[in-house]
Amino acid sequence: MQQVTLKDKTFVPYITADKISVSVNNLAQKINTDLVNDMPLFLVVLNGSFMFAADLLKEVTIPCEISFIKLASYHGTSSSGTVTEMIGLTDEIKGRTVVVVEDIVDTGVTLEKLVSLLNKKEVKQIKVASFLLKPDAYKKDIPVDYVGMEIPNDFVVGYGLDYDGLGRNMKEIYVLHK
Ligand code: IMP
Repeated sequence: MQQVTLKDKTFVPYITADKISVSVNNLAQKINTDLVNDMPLFLVVLNGSFMFAADLLKEVTIPCEISFIKLASYHGTSSSGTVTEMIGLTDEIKGRTVVVVEDIVDTGVTLEKLVSLLNKKEVKQIKVASFLLKPDAYKKDIPVDYVGMEIPNDFVVGYGLDYDGLGRNMKEIYVLHK
């Protein structure tokens, strides 16, 4: 692993593909045990989660369904300012166990919005699986049930995560060079 330059920034190696793989497999085994009787619907939040979701779900062996969503934000005319909408969800999710699959939880603003949208749809329970979590930045109360790795408040790319659209395809994770 060598350092990489994406646009104007340099990133250095941080988490190897082998370490990623071990932690993703551990997460899958926990999910296999915990949710064996729940027939969960995995809701993969695009774009960043595509690589994590593919690796995770190859190791999930319990009966389940998989769906993909995107969050779209726009400035509404209401006084509430930014409105977030969930697009792409075609499945009926009322009464289901939904596992939100995220690449990273940073401040948790995105996760909080998503969970509130899901709760309006009367799901049975929501579980959250995020490959990365930044505990020093996360200030919300929603439990992140399955975390691959906790990292400091640094900006990372690779394994689905991007810097300005670039770097998602790298199979290792890199951190911004200070
Ligand atoms: P939030 O602060 O938890 O709402 O995170 C919002 C979004 O910011 C995440 O879903 C990622 O797309 C992006 N993000 C947060 N931290 C990083 C990072 O270190 N690298 C790349 N994207 C990040």
